[in-house]
Amino acid sequence: MNLIAAVDRNWGIGKGGRLLVSIPEDQRLFREETMGKVVVMGRKTLESLPGGRPLHGRTTIVLSRDPAFQVKGAVVCRSMEETLEKLKEYPSEHIFIAGGQEIYEEFLPYCDVAHITYIDYGYEADVNFPDLDRSEEWQLVLTGEEQTYFDLCYEFRMYRRIRGLKTPSGMSVQPAQMSAETKK
Ligand SMILES: NC(=O)c1ccc[n+]([C@@H]2O[C@H](COP(=O)([O-])OP(=O)(O)OC[C@H]3O[C@@H](n4cnc5c(N)ncnc54)[C@H](OP(=O)(O)O)[C@@H]3O)[C@@H](O)[C@H]2O)c1
Repeated sequence: MNLIAAVDRNWGIGKGGRLLVSIPEDQRLFREETMGKVVVMGRKTLESLPGGRPLHGRTTIVLSRDPAFQVKGAVVCRSMEETLEKLKEYPSEHIFIAGGQEIYEEFLPYCDVAHITYIDYGYEADVNFPDLDRSEEWQLVLTGEEQTYFDLCYEFRMYRRIRGLKTPSGMSVQPAQMSAETKK
């Protein structure tokens, strides 16, 4: 299962219900990576999208605890358990956890690949992503060339989980199995 996020230097991801910054090339890559796949997001992130509508061309799964919450064009799940059950219908490499903070934190243990746009600037943020550079469970495996958007520098990174993956049934994958996985 994949995570996809844009983080700043402090692993901040948003403020006041919005992104910290919109970088067109980052949005293009998000679109390219997720097109035809499954994106999982929290109700607040859905509401931050243009018109509060699901992204077209993708299966969108939205989490909300509100029993009355419905959204046209998306599957709504009311709990982690319901979502993980639903996600069993899809190949795990086609699933992208797309935020925000609450959803990233809940799904991180089930993910083994993180696609991170790292923006080399410190914004004021009120939501954050767990710092993968400080985690012993994750390893930076790919860094793209440094790019610029006006005076901002950013790069695309890929992190892979090296230990501690949880499967939806709650069973941990052994480190040996993980290394075989990461060699794929
Ligand atoms: N930089 C990035 O890549 C990126 C990506 C996405 C989002 N963001 C930013 O992140 C912020 C939003 O993050 P957030 O943490 O405030 O909100 P969020 O994770 O998008 O959504 C939280 C909501 O999801 C629902 N939810 C969460 N866990 C659930 C569970 N286990 N079962 C059922 N429903 C559950 C609840 O909805 P109800 O309240 O309806 O029950 C909860 O209030 C925004 O600023 C957004 O722009 C940044």
